[in-house]
Amino acid sequence: MPIRWQIMLVFLIIIGVSFAFAATRLTNYVSEYLYQQRIRQDSISVERLATTVAPLFQSAQSDALSETLKSSSNELGGRLLVLDNDAKIQFDSFSALMGTRLQLPETLAILSGQPQAYGLHALQEGNALTGNYVACCASSIIGTKGNLGILVFIADVDEMMASLSLVRRELLIVFGLVAAAALLAAGFFSHLLTRPVLALTRTIQNMARGDLSVRAPVTGSGEIRNLAENYNAMAEQLESLDRSRNQFVSNASHELKTPMTSMKLLLENVIYQPDMPSELRSEFLQDINHEIDRLTHIVTDLLELTRMDNHQMKLDLSEVSLSDIIMESIRMLAPAAEQRSQQILSDIAPNVTILGDHDKLKQIATNLMDNALKYSQENQSISVSLSVKGKKAYFAVTDHGVGISADDQKHIFERFYRVDKARSRETGGTGLGLSIVRQLVNLHHGEITVDSMPGQGSTFTVTLPLNGKDGDAR
Ligand SMILES: Nc1ncnc2c1ncn2[C@@H]1O[C@H](COP(=O)(O)OP(=O)(O)OP(=O)(O)O)[C@@H](O)[C@H]1O
Ligand SMILES: [Mg+2]
Repeated sequence: MPIRWQIMLVFLIIIGVSFAFAATRLTNYVSEYLYQQRIRQDSISVERLATTVAPLFQSAQSDALSETLKSSSNELGGRLLVLDNDAKIQFDSFSALMGTRLQLPETLAILSGQPQAYGLHALQEGNALTGNYVACCASSIIGTKGNLGILVFIADVDEMMASLSLVRRELLIVFGLVAAAALLAAGFFSHLLTRPVLALTRTIQNMARGDLSVRAPVTGSGEIRNLAENYNAMAEQLESLDRSRNQFVSNASHELKTPMTSMKLLLENVIYQPDMPSELRSEFLQDINHEIDRLTHIVTDLLELTRMDNHQMKLDLSEVSLSDIIMESIRMLAPAAEQRSQQILSDIAPNVTILGDHDKLKQIATNLMDNALKYSQENQSISVSLSVKGKKAYFAVTDHGVGISADDQKHIFERFYRVDKARSRETGGTGLGLSIVRQLVNLHHGEITVDSMPGQGSTFTVTLPLNGKDGDAR
């Protein structure tokens, strides 16, 4: 059931129940009040009359008795009956029911010894008594020799009942009006409440169809507004994620296409020139081999990034010596550096151990040193340092090469970003190294920063918590 109907139903139930309760209480109270009023007046009169008629009844002065009762019945505005101790009617001011037995709860009560009794009766159609509703007031007639009989006064209370039902009808009308007003209010209120929800649902439907640019209108206040704002923030993120994924795919395809194209060209040369000199042929084949290496390198990097994106990469954590790992990387890169007459100067604090993944830490160190060597001139040395301050290890790689402008520094950790595209492609770079490094550093709860001046050189600093946990988070 839609929220709107639910709210209206709840409103209706609350109002209905409270009204029914209040109305019952009120009508009961009113009827009780009216009835009590009536009984009080009647009982006093009937009691007094019973004493008056007692001697007349006892001495069987029927004329005087009938006279007294008739005039009293006119005065009181009802019917007066005198019953003997067998509840047989001896006298009726309407002169109709003489000799019949009157079986009312009140007469029975008097016969069983009560001095007075009252009651209210709804009479069936065609009853010998008058009216639809009657109030009955009975009093025992006590003579000198004890109980002589019963004086019964029957008054038509239709008027009283009519005013009661009028009260009921009026209450019902008020209920109808209040309920209608409440339903209108509930309808309006629920409309206000559900409108933004409906708008949000439409937005979500559009988004599900693939349009990530749609946003929910931020209206209203409180939780609904909050919901729309949060939803929009989520949509924003999804859109930017989608954008960067598309960009990633197109960049990756582009990067893969370049070595493929050059491989195809080289291969075609070999195929269509069968009489090519064998040295040239082997040079071509070597180039192809080089391109395959490049392709493999790119694909490995891409796979690694995707695994990190999907949180599939788990670190193989153990207590490792960061000092040893860095020395290993230096030894690995030294031969290539020597070929370009570059030196790797090192200032490594001994026995720095951290909780980390040996291979990944080595990959961080190698990538940074590889960049430092790659983006420096021949003969230019680089320096590598490792130190400990507090609960953190600081690993820095400094070069005196091309440097990076402040604008480019903001982007170098993005995938496929290269400052000088032509140049880094020459050096074999894809622009994935630093984004992998940053992800690996993050996995180790560390941080990486760059400090660089174009033409002067750069320093990349990696800060790692010694206990393998984020040093700031406690
Ligand atoms: N030490 C450095 N000095 C100057 N520029 C650098 C340095 N390190 C990185 N850069 C710039 O940042 C870019 C991104 O570096 P990154 O290591 O991500 O990619 P790459 O070295 O080009 O390729 P690869 O994926 O093979 O590492 C480089 O292309 C280069 O322009
Ligand atoms: Mg690199």
